[in-house]
Amino acid sequence: MIDEVRSITALGKVANYIPALADGRKTDLAVSVCTIDGQYFQAGTVEKSFTLQSISKVLALAFVLDIKGEEEVFSKVGMEPSGDPYYSISKLEFTNPTKPFNPMINAGALAITSLLPGHSMKKKLENFIDYVSCLTGNRKIEYNEKVAKSEFTTSFLNRSLLYYMKQFGVIEGNVEDIIDLYTKQCAVEIDCLQLARIGAIFSLNGQDPEKRNQLITKRTAKICKAFMVTCGMYNASGEFAIKVGVPAKSGVSGGILAVVPNRFGIGIFGPALDQRGNSIGGWKLLEKMADQFDINIF
Ligand code: DON
Repeated sequence: MIDEVRSITALGKVANYIPALADGRKTDLAVSVCTIDGQYFQAGTVEKSFTLQSISKVLALAFVLDIKGEEEVFSKVGMEPSGDPYYSISKLEFTNPTKPFNPMINAGALAITSLLPGHSMKKKLENFIDYVSCLTGNRKIEYNEKVAKSEFTTSFLNRSLLYYMKQFGVIEGNVEDIIDLYTKQCAVEIDCLQLARIGAIFSLNGQDPEKRNQLITKRTAKICKAFMVTCGMYNASGEFAIKVGVPAKSGVSGGILAVVPNRFGIGIFGPALDQRGNSIGGWKLLEKMADQFDINIF
């Protein structure tokens, strides 16, 4: 299936607005599946690690929801898809009081990052990394310094979103500190297998596929999956729901986390992106899997 789809990667482009991501190899394409009883299947260039980028938004949201609760989280971010590109600032100006539409667009994700638990920025990052490590079955997790630095020095739009939100009281604290933390959060490295395992946890409503202990509360897992369906593929989420029909979250490094409830999690890596920032090969692969394995939840 991978070989059938690989040719479409020629039509995509590797992200270059974060300069360090431009090194990605366009033809790479990999998929892993982790079933709810902990069996793994994989195909393609699965040995490569990649940075989470926007996939980190759903993990940070799960972490912050379970630590701080819905009331605090939803006082800062809304629950509605925006229909705008992920970096858009426009709707911030038209909501009164100012509130990012949802935690999957950059504005909302930055607000969630500012809520990560910890007494210092260093500790907040450590806590987030420990959380991701716990979800991957205690693998050693690190962030890619080169990618983080590359984004930090070029994040003018994200800084604008933060300054706007600071003006209107959505975030507290120092903008540079939050950008530093956010770019490191986005630069956390993972591979397809680990991503598939995280998908399996969501497909089990928060339970570890091997030990069956609850890593994410059921309520939080359901909230995250609802956001993945409505906003996980950005302004392509509606089309993705129709063509594939599973909760999913993409990132500009080319990763996609997808969840087939009560069956399996899927981790994909394919750095060639379509115009809306989703892995072009990954999307096609998921369309094929939807046909072949009848995964559409609707
Ligand atoms: O904030 C950014 O622009 C990146 N760190 C993440 C964006 C992203 O992955 C959007 N994905 N489709």
